[in-house]
Amino acid sequence: MQTEIISPVTETDIEHAAGLIRRGQLVAFPTETVYGLGANGLDASACARIYKAKGRPADNPLILHISDLSMAADVAREVPPAAAHLLTVFAPGPLTVIVPKAAHIPDIVTGGLPTVGVRCPANDIARALIRAAGVPVAAPSANTSGRPSPTAAAMVADDLAGRIPLILDGGACRWGIESTIVDCTAEGAVTILRPGAVTREMIAAELTQTEVRVDSALMAADAVPRAPGMKYRHYAPRAPLTVYTGAGPAVAAALRAELLRRSAAGERVGLIASRETVAVVRDVLPAAYRYDCGARGDTAAYASRLYDALRHFDRTDIASLLAEGTEEEGLGLAVMNRLRKASGGDIVAVGGAFEKTGSNKKD
Ligand code: TXA
Ligand code: MG
Repeated sequence: MQTEIISPVTETDIEHAAGLIRRGQLVAFPTETVYGLGANGLDASACARIYKAKGRPADNPLILHISDLSMAADVAREVPPAAAHLLTVFAPGPLTVIVPKAAHIPDIVTGGLPTVGVRCPANDIARALIRAAGVPVAAPSANTSGRPSPTAAAMVADDLAGRIPLILDGGACRWGIESTIVDCTAEGAVTILRPGAVTREMIAAELTQTEVRVDSALMAADAVPRAPGMKYRHYAPRAPLTVYTGAGPAVAAALRAELLRRSAAGERVGLIASRETVAVVRDVLPAAYRYDCGARGDTAAYASRLYDALRHFDRTDIASLLAEGTEEEGLGLAVMNRLRKASGGDIVAVGGAFEKTGSNKKD
């Protein structure tokens, strides 16, 4: 199959893409988080094509994307008050709420679960596409299963060219990591199943009468998370990754020492780190083996570059990969969650603690 990549995207292109969706085909499209691989969410055989194109396990449910908040009522049996509140405040935006599913949503969308993920993206192309298609659009991230999510159209093409008819190129994604998933199906409490750009702190500030939990399995390498997809070893770079956390200068020194040790042993090793840390190792590491993820503490920059960094190193001949961690607050919780998964939980706490929080461990 020939894959068409369209840029810039016009209204005519949106109509063309919406027609493909209505006819049961797949379209990759930009969102403010990562690129999605969309299909008609009411058409079971169209959704089956998503699993096939990605090589995705069948028990991993899809999120339904809506263009306007009013569409939530079409896909949910009910929208619990906490979900309604979060959607009102944070949607359109990088948020997915888990709510009871409406009876007509095919089982293949939800992996047989009685609940469904609902998300209204903030990207104009995404919303125009959903609106023109006139149906909820089921869309996982547009990567091959097990690879980092794509944050640009070229990354979608790297994984899916020849397997899907169309990629709408909307440029780089604003956030670069997937939406925050919040389970709103329990009474009196919500649970963050996947941290993202709508942070735990932002959610807690809104839901003052509701307990805001973080799925404890997100922090442990061995526990089984409640979002089925979070149990897979996603975002796994080809080279084994070790993440160093702690106070910036101490981490930079520890990374430099470890790079020197591995290089002396003849090992080619890559580094993903802050600009400040990269500056500290510049003299001992070739340019292709160091990836600058922005100023230290700039978690938004780190989030937007992380997947490109992981894909970059998959194209090099490194035998191992080191990365600088972030504090687990605000967007840093999401960045560390992805680093934790990419490393399979191989985290080294340097000096035991970050300066500000006093601890890099959260439950
Ligand atoms: O930012 C995003 O959410 C992107 C863009 C394209 O919108 N989409 C995305 O989809 O990341 P995906 O399929 O790659 O990740 C969805 C996650 C999976 O871990 C899945 O297991 C979980 O959401 N999920 C979906 N439905 C669920 C449900 N009913 N209950 C619990 N977890 C669910
Ligand atoms: Mg995904």
